[in-house]
Amino acid sequence: MDKPIRIALTKGRLERDTVALLEKAGYDCTAVREKGRKLILPIDGENLEIVLAKANDVITYVEHGVCDVGVVGKDTIMEMQGKFFEVADLGFGRCRFALAAKKGSDFYSGYNVKTIATKYPNVTRSYFESKGMDVEIVKIEGSVELAPLLELSDAIVDIVETGTTLKENGLEVKEYVCPISARLIVNMVSMKTRRQEIERLVTKLDWANA
Ligand code: PRP
Repeated sequence: MDKPIRIALTKGRLERDTVALLEKAGYDCTAVREKGRKLILPIDGENLEIVLAKANDVITYVEHGVCDVGVVGKDTIMEMQGKFFEVADLGFGRCRFALAAKKGSDFYSGYNVKTIATKYPNVTRSYFESKGMDVEIVKIEGSVELAPLLELSDAIVDIVETGTTLKENGLEVKEYVCPISARLIVNMVSMKTRRQEIERLVTKLDWANA
């Protein structure tokens, strides 16, 4: 038998939603549900294996072909780019990229170059380039909402889901940048060499998601 098709899942919420979808599609995910600290889990009765990884690493593993398929947010895809096929929008993990700043502030007032804090410098750069606006970008690793509160930046570009984090920290959305959701990505070589198995998986997930 061929080696299993490896599916890299972004750990956390996307992992839970993907496991629910796989189960709806008829795959036995008992090993993932009872995983403990294990990171590579078989799907019983199928030549499939789940690999649990951080979002950026899902892309790295799929790009390098050590995983055939990946489930990752469009936010990570936009930030990392890379060479792979994006074959499906899975519909869950829905949120938006937004430009946010202190409530009541006028982001565009004044002539000074604005400072933007973000975990997503590439997304931020291309957003402001598309507006023809020069900004200074500061990379932050998490809780980006702190940056305007500490006066490090004029605004942030970040993910907004419910809006609660912004609201509870006295910030508000100034502009929405684009919608985000979980995507299914496929390694370019695997798409040729394991086409049938991958198409079967994608079709089953499509049906379960319909
Ligand atoms: C994300 C994002 C916001 C928050 C938005 O952070 O960076 O901080 O969720 O969600 P909300 O609109 O529903 O409040 P995450 O929880 O991933 O943590 P992090 O900031 O440490 O990366």
